[in-house]
Amino acid sequence: MSKVLRIGLIISSAALAASMLFNLQAAETRNTGTLREALRNRKTTRAFAVGSISRTALDDIVWASCGKTHSSGGTAMRTAPSAGATYPVELHFIVDKIDSVQSGIYRYSLEEEKLVLEEGGRFQDQVNEVSRTQPFVALSNIIIVMVYNPERIVARYGGKSRDYALLEAGHIAQNALLMAADLGLASVPKGSFDKDRLAGLLKLDSSKEPLYMVCIGRQQ
Ligand SMILES: Cc1cc2nc3c(=O)[nH]c(=O)nc-3n(C[C@H](O)[C@H](O)[C@H](O)COP(=O)(O)O)c2cc1C
Repeated sequence: MSKVLRIGLIISSAALAASMLFNLQAAETRNTGTLREALRNRKTTRAFAVGSISRTALDDIVWASCGKTHSSGGTAMRTAPSAGATYPVELHFIVDKIDSVQSGIYRYSLEEEKLVLEEGGRFQDQVNEVSRTQPFVALSNIIIVMVYNPERIVARYGGKSRDYALLEAGHIAQNALLMAADLGLASVPKGSFDKDRLAGLLKLDSSKEPLYMVCIGRQQ
């Protein structure tokens, strides 16, 4: 292959990855186990195996966490409830070893309904360093970081806003954990991490705060 063609291919695949649309519609209609089975099977499993997971599994986890379900009064409503439909919890997905997906930090854009690549590369070890090192973090295929954005809610709920965001993060996390159980993946909800260092890794504005994390990987 000529050098020009090779460079062209590298550039076009990078552009494709950066604007990758995730097929959340398909995730919504995929028919797998029952809710009862997922509830029964959900448990914290810290023994992750090394290996990749499928792109459809990522789509399913993204959809369960923040996918749109319907519109109400012009607002896109989501799988998890939100106080006054303000959606103050923004999601970052730190992914690695997912078939045909570039490893990196993605931010879910509520407005565009897609994951936007913020930074390519493997960040699992760095997340592990800032989060009371537990081996499963470094082996995670998907780390969901739930980030509080006060600008979306404070005008409406004032001093109650952060508490509401914490409750919302719990709803989102449970959805992701149940989908992981449905997919037969291992998962851990994680509250122990250094907020400032994690915010630095995600290059968050100073007004934003990481609240909670869910780590997902292959079962051993
Ligand atoms: C808010 C919260 C924070 C947690 N933080 C961590 C954590 O930092 N590390 C970890 O290994 N497990 C963490 N866990 C998982 C709990 O240890 C686990 O949910 C608990 O032992 C109950 O087990 P189960 O999830 O299998 O039902 C956390 C759970 C919750 C709800």
